[in-house]
Amino acid sequence: MTQETWTSVDDYITSAVVGDDPILEGALERSAAAGLPAISVSPPQGKLLFLLARAMRARRILELGTLGGYSTIWLARALPRGGRVVTLELEPTHAAVARDNLKRATLARRVDIRVGPALETLDTLIADAVKPFDLVFIDADKPRIPEYYERALALSHPGSVIIVDNVVREGKLADASSDDANVQGVRAFHDLLAHDERVSATTIQTVGAKGYDGFALAVVN
Ligand code: SAH
Ligand code: DHB
Ligand code: MG
Repeated sequence: MTQETWTSVDDYITSAVVGDDPILEGALERSAAAGLPAISVSPPQGKLLFLLARAMRARRILELGTLGGYSTIWLARALPRGGRVVTLELEPTHAAVARDNLKRATLARRVDIRVGPALETLDTLIADAVKPFDLVFIDADKPRIPEYYERALALSHPGSVIIVDNVVREGKLADASSDDANVQGVRAFHDLLAHDERVSATTIQTVGAKGYDGFALAVVN
């Protein structure tokens, strides 16, 4: 099996279950034109986020790592009336592209983009005792995943779902000797999960247009 196969199957799945979506396609085009890296979730992954959010009737969603707002659009589309996405982004240039994309998607009113280091914004949200989030999507810098996960739990309620992207890393998740800080981050996160009575969790390996990777899903007890 090759990347070529995974990409063509992802294209096939995208035409079957996502279809033409000028808003999402335009968001990716404007992100690329602005020089943002092409690391958004794939269309089938975006739809999975949308479906999970919808199935659990999430009203308050927290995202770490906005980039150009592609996954944010999927998540915000799942919200019921009055629902809200809070999305955290370090780079003001990324946030500006996302703001434009969300406006074009007519979702800007439902999305709160907070610019700055996610750890600081999370600690502010915790200190402000904001209402807990129903769904948290962690997709920012990978070495800090363990710290983000702890904050996500602090901002959750029983039944909240926490999804963490890019935790398999071409299989390096299983390599204890890796000196890659991203791998060490996802391994430290799994070490936490292994002893964590606060959640029930699993990790799913994936292949697709973005290669071989995977995501973790935890439900708060
Ligand atoms: N969720 C997006 C992709 C996010 S890419 C999508 O699927 O469409 C990761 C993003 O995290 C980048 O935009 C990067 O600038 C941001 N990021 C990196 N370090 C961060 C930090 N410390 N705090 C907040 N955002 C960060
Ligand atoms: C990278 C980040 C992501 O969130 C992703 O899904 C793929 C790649 C990266 O930083 O390279
Ligand atoms: Mg990702």
